[in-house]
Amino acid sequence: MLNWDDPLATAGQTSNTHPSPGLEPVARSVARRSTDTAVHGTTPSQPSSPHPRASHPRPGLGLVDNAALMTTAGAAPSVDPDPFAHATPDPQGDLPIEDRILPEPRTAGSESVAGGATGLESLAMGADRVRVDDKRIINCRADLNQLVPFKYDWAWQKYLDACANHWMPQEISMNADLALWKDPNGLTEDERLIVKRNLGFFSTADSLVANNLVLAVYRHITNPECRQYLLRQAFEEALHTHAYQYVVESLGLDEGEIFNMYREVPAVARKAEWALPFTQHLADPHFQTGAPENDQKLLRELVAFYVIFEGIFFYVGFVQILSMGRRNKMTGTAEQFQYILRDESMHMNFGIDVINQIKIENPHLWTPEFRQELVGMIREAVELEARYAHDTMPRGVLGLNAQMFEDYLHFIANRRCAQIGLPEQYPGASNPFPWMSEVLDLKKEKNFFETRVTEYQTGGALSWD
Ligand SMILES: [Fe+2]
Ligand SMILES: [Fe+2]
Repeated sequence: MLNWDDPLATAGQTSNTHPSPGLEPVARSVARRSTDTAVHGTTPSQPSSPHPRASHPRPGLGLVDNAALMTTAGAAPSVDPDPFAHATPDPQGDLPIEDRILPEPRTAGSESVAGGATGLESLAMGADRVRVDDKRIINCRADLNQLVPFKYDWAWQKYLDACANHWMPQEISMNADLALWKDPNGLTEDERLIVKRNLGFFSTADSLVANNLVLAVYRHITNPECRQYLLRQAFEEALHTHAYQYVVESLGLDEGEIFNMYREVPAVARKAEWALPFTQHLADPHFQTGAPENDQKLLRELVAFYVIFEGIFFYVGFVQILSMGRRNKMTGTAEQFQYILRDESMHMNFGIDVINQIKIENPHLWTPEFRQELVGMIREAVELEARYAHDTMPRGVLGLNAQMFEDYLHFIANRRCAQIGLPEQYPGASNPFPWMSEVLDLKKEKNFFETRVTEYQTGGALSWD
């Protein structure tokens, strides 16, 4: 069952058995949550269980194997990534959007859907109750303050799954990491570079994602169950930034060096610079969805952040830090990254479902030109991330080298393309890190249709059995 190397099996104990008085202010443990299954309506987990990690990985108990970690990573994407495969061919399917005859905007009451609702409109006394059929992911005029009736059960399920995985950075001891970091012979210079570069990249990248979510994306997603997940995701992004701050403080690193790295180190800056233009339109207070070209801007930004930023740009760093953990180095940091990785996998899966659902409801947006543009973005991102791999480990370290990362990036880029219904770009690419395979949710997605039928047909009456 375990797909991690042996050192990992004892890494948890190692990281928790060397208390360091100097670390007390930041590394003190907090009371263990005793209700981690309360949301399921079942009995709380038993701390005395001989194998608590097997059923529900908990932070603070040491590194876990990926398979166990990902069993609680929630539902895989369940919205059809290729909804047009079996549909009647659209006679306008090959036309650019400006040459198409588009349907009249839907109306609710006397209002046009253009711009969608915000949830802050004046109350209309006596208005009709919300019906499922009124709900849409974008450009919806139905009341956004009424969570139910659910239309997108996958979104609500992901919200519940995310809440069931709640964790805090302080639950993870950083004592072993501090001892190793202080030991002049504890880590090589290359290994130290990897730790610092990744803290530098992720500390601001997660903040960037959070700001994009709250200030740009949230306003344009006009569905309450999706917004419920976005609110949860926003909190998780705050937790991730907190986790990096916690590691930086625990190790006594120069916080200015780490948090300003994306303005000082090109390898780190390039990825943020690539992403920032994709948030400009949506963050503009005058920007409104409703017109096809603006709806495409929203879709483009969702792909940029959910599929590329969180789905490609995070993965070299995840592999690097988790590789250190596999060698029993920086196990507290690696454990922090494991829980972040689980969250990020869920964010990406949610974003993919949103993207595919927007396609279903707005097929006119998915033009050949637009698809080609997205493919170009993904290919460019792969090149950027491969450079990041090279810049962060120029000589090869931890049994890893830049060429392996290039192969890995081709492999995951193929998966990302398939997940949103684009053609795979790197034929024959294989995964040089099989121990990361569970993180890619291979098993779950193979059962794509069964998953949808068994887990999503019950609507609001979700079963946790
Ligand atoms: Fe994050
Ligand atoms: Fe995220």
